[in-house]
Amino acid sequence: MSENESDTIEARLPEQEYYRPPPAFVGQANVSDPAIYERFGEYPEGFEEYAQLLDWDDHWDTVLDASDPPFYHWFNGGRLNASYNCVDRHLDSYADKTALLWEGEPGETQRIAYQDLYRRVNEFAAVLRSVGVTEDDIVTLHLPMVPELPIAMLACARLGAPHSEVFAGFTAPALADRLADANSQYLVTIDGYHRRGEFLDHKRKADSALEDGSVDIDTVLVFTREDELHPDTKMEDGRDVLVADRLDEHRGDRLDPISRDAEDVLFLMYTSGTTGRPKGAQHGTGGYLSYVAGTSKYLFDIHPTDTYWCFADIGWITGHSYIVYGPLAIGATSVLYEGAPDHPHRGRVWEIAEKYNVDIFHTSPTAVRMFMKWGEEHLQPYDFNFKHLTTVGEPMQPEAWRWYYEHVGNESAVIVDTWWQTETGGVVISNLPALADMKPGSVGQAMPGISPAILDGAGNEIEPGSGTAGYLVLERPWPGILQTLYEDDDRYLSEYWKKFSDTDSDDWRDWVYRASDSAVQAADGYYRVLGRIDDVMNVAGHRLGSMELESAIVEVPEVAEAAVAPRDHPEKGQVPDAYVVLKEGVESSEEIRSEVIDVVSEDIGKFARPGNVEFVTVLPYTRSGKIMRRLLEEISNDRELSDTTTLEDSSVPEEIRKQVQGS
Ligand code: WTA
Repeated sequence: MSENESDTIEARLPEQEYYRPPPAFVGQANVSDPAIYERFGEYPEGFEEYAQLLDWDDHWDTVLDASDPPFYHWFNGGRLNASYNCVDRHLDSYADKTALLWEGEPGETQRIAYQDLYRRVNEFAAVLRSVGVTEDDIVTLHLPMVPELPIAMLACARLGAPHSEVFAGFTAPALADRLADANSQYLVTIDGYHRRGEFLDHKRKADSALEDGSVDIDTVLVFTREDELHPDTKMEDGRDVLVADRLDEHRGDRLDPISRDAEDVLFLMYTSGTTGRPKGAQHGTGGYLSYVAGTSKYLFDIHPTDTYWCFADIGWITGHSYIVYGPLAIGATSVLYEGAPDHPHRGRVWEIAEKYNVDIFHTSPTAVRMFMKWGEEHLQPYDFNFKHLTTVGEPMQPEAWRWYYEHVGNESAVIVDTWWQTETGGVVISNLPALADMKPGSVGQAMPGISPAILDGAGNEIEPGSGTAGYLVLERPWPGILQTLYEDDDRYLSEYWKKFSDTDSDDWRDWVYRASDSAVQAADGYYRVLGRIDDVMNVAGHRLGSMELESAIVEVPEVAEAAVAPRDHPEKGQVPDAYVVLKEGVESSEEIRSEVIDVVSEDIGKFARPGNVEFVTVLPYTRSGKIMRRLLEEISNDRELSDTTTLEDSSVPEEIRKQVQGS
């Protein structure tokens, strides 16, 4: 479905059989009483149950201040510190308990007890303070999956300095954009990290992001991955600070956590949107932390005795909410792995699961499809035993679901598909695992207190079971919702609210959050999310905007114009195909094809590389001058072409198809 074109589509997906949650799981579940839905039916007071999982310096006055929709204030008047909630408050009972269990790619281990975490967070907070970081300064982090990343996040939170972590796979230009947008004065990076057997030089990305002087950074704090600095790392005098040296100076320092207003910013997370500029989703402290703590306990069903592994990267929202903040807020043991799942062998994930006795495992459908392709023989040597298996980030195909259930879950674990977004902060659609039957390919029902609906283009609700997909919306705010887009309230309104809200109203009931996904609801009320309806694609669970890719591609000197469309891919979900128009007189060549692929790898990151590069002579423009990427998507996927009447020249798509097939 493409926005503003067809508003609804037929989506009669074959119904799947139900699977009952295993009784052993139900017997131990944190939530096994359906009365939870009634409690959360008291809106918004039901959400206090999540807030009560935290320690507050001052209790809130109002649960929800919705007087200025869609700028919502949760737990208004309350005060708390996120670092205190994730670390200090566990010391009484859990000082020796492992908080973070880190596995480096080369195989070394760090078991970081809550007491160690307390020490390391305090000492790094002291280092941040020593370079001048104070409350409300935005600190950009560009860190891979090393313990220093959650430590840095919690140290920032301790000081009341919002962090903005940029996924380590992003390269210099993407980092520079995010630094500039957040107007960040501080950058924290590391010399290198291990990936697929290589010790990568990571800091050079920061160096080149800062090279042209367009970003104004006072201080770059540099962690070291090994005892010795990476051989290629250069330190710039007056700007770069070696964290190891500073930590020595601040050994034993303790800093009181700064008491923050519930609505003070905890972090920014940049995400792709429909225009080239990434959007800084801004999350507050009280509502966000309550929501991720509550969902970690009720949905991921984490108990103090569990070893929980979310095999995702902290550089994306999943890792923020469900590796760091949610699990640590409830005193869990959370596993972090630095490297690739196939290094040094394809059984690596299961080897780690056995080594640490992981009992709750969380990953993406892309990873499941990959494990399935590699074959179950890579699992067989390992003795792992999961009770709870989660997926997030993309639609889960029933076939992959069954494989996960059978071969990873040994038919004795619950499988929990979760739908949410960077903007929603935490999971908003998913079955509470002990309370509903599982259905392969379905994300399930609304989480307690959440009110999704599916609307047609005119804003009318589509009935469950009608077999028609429409826009997925959320009709009531919830505590995890983003506060706004950083310094861009207008874009916040236009991206999420304008389409279905009465924007003149100051009654929150007239405001509807639009998720940019299409979905269909079965007669049993279960939702199935089909995918994005905007120009954002989902590559291996990573959100990528077409515009970001296109702006990179047109940097190739021979390229005149470019458009990118998602092609379905058996493992990655989608890959971007690039349609490229060359400048007059330039012949297409393998060199240009490589240049196109390289520029995307360099400007954005390897994970964003185009699958096919198609040289064409024209792109399909509408009469209003917009590229109709939907038609390119149909060509890439070898589907029949849909309506072309709004095109400037309706013969263009067929012409492109011929050029592509001839190429
Ligand atoms: C997609 C990741 C189908 C969706 C937490 C959404 C899903 C985007 C699912 C957000 C799911 C996420 N089934 N699609 N269970 N979960 N998506 O911001 O298109 O990186 O809008 O947040 O991923 O991606 P984001």
